[in-house]
Amino acid sequence: VELDASIMDGTRHRAGAVASLRDIRNPISVARLVLERTHHTTLAGEGALRFALQMGFKPEQLLTPESLKKWLDWKADPKRPTFWQNPSENHDTIGMVATDGKGHVVAGCSTSGLAWKIPGRVGDTPLVGCGVYADDNIGAATATGNGDLMSNYCTSISIIHYMARGASPQEACVALLEHIAKTDPANRSGDVCVLALNAGGEVGAAAMHKGNRLKYALWREGKSELLESIALY
Ligand code: GLY
Repeated sequence: VELDASIMDGTRHRAGAVASLRDIRNPISVARLVLERTHHTTLAGEGALRFALQMGFKPEQLLTPESLKKWLDWKADPKRPTFWQNPSENHDTIGMVATDGKGHVVAGCSTSGLAWKIPGRVGDTPLVGCGVYADDNIGAATATGNGDLMSNYCTSISIIHYMARGASPQEACVALLEHIAKTDPANRSGDVCVLALNAGGEVGAAAMHKGNRLKYALWREGKSELLESIALY
């Protein structure tokens, strides 16, 4: 189990991130301390773990008995999906964007990456500009889906750039997905889901394909709603 996470503060234009972090349950809390306590932006692997331990995080076994059994079954299957030849898209990423209503925006993202990934694989989540971006002058964006595909499009900063050129958060999400689909029509079936928000509290959300729908929770003025984004294809 290797976890990736990042967090970005749109006022300071500063992010903190950890990649391939083992044995620590809440990687985004470690990412936040990289931001708050160091002059670095990203720590990875063994160094990220050592930093977490120095900051007082307790190591624990993150593989549950259920996930250990799944892994053993996968390992025993000669036809198992692998990222050498026949990948399966299977992830559980949480992306968040928020504003305080006074012009301050933040973004955060956390994941265990893709199931059956090659050890050491880093997805989009801890890459600043891919998994997260936040700039008080424009807004914040995050992404969930196939991080190997999305890293190639610098998803979050691309959305922010569309917004900087006048697009609403919703228009910016759609514009990026259309661009990804246009450069390679095979991407139309890809697992690409994005969320964005501007400092005024306008929200955008879109999924590339209806097979990978994006459900998102919107919390505003004490009320929370579970919504579903549009899907382009
Ligand atoms: N978005 C999760 C990952 O691909 O790592």
